[in-house]
Amino acid sequence: VSLLALASSSVWAADQCSVDIQGTDQMTFSTDKIKVNEDCKQFTVNLIHPGTLPKNVMGHNWVLTKKDDVQGVATDGIAAGMDKDYLKENDSRVIAHTKVIGGGEKTSVTFDTSKLKKGEDYEYFCSFPGHAAIMKGTLTIDD
Ligand code: CO
Repeated sequence: VSLLALASSSVWAADQCSVDIQGTDQMTFSTDKIKVNEDCKQFTVNLIHPGTLPKNVMGHNWVLTKKDDVQGVATDGIAAGMDKDYLKENDSRVIAHTKVIGGGEKTSVTFDTSKLKKGEDYEYFCSFPGHAAIMKGTLTIDD
């Protein structure tokens, strides 16, 4: 089963408490907005890399923080390096994150929505060096 087949079939099976997002060889995320239904106790992000470039060249992860924490987390992540998935160890500003993946890989993260407050501005981004400026989006609680 190819990754693309998995991605498209999951559209039909999608519940309200998960989302599929692609990180591509073109250094983009496939969506810049994620809405979390407030009825979800947990939320799952499935990150799919449909490209062919390896993770040391075009690696992607999905990192969720408050909007004001993006810059600091991204800067500290670059210093932490690839071995740490470009995130400072035990960074309390990170609400949820996946590992870094390369072309042809997928990963996911599930987190408790109790960590999110309505009205707060959350952003997600890729912490691979140089990617956060382009690979980013907003996450909001939707009622
Ligand atoms: Co990236």
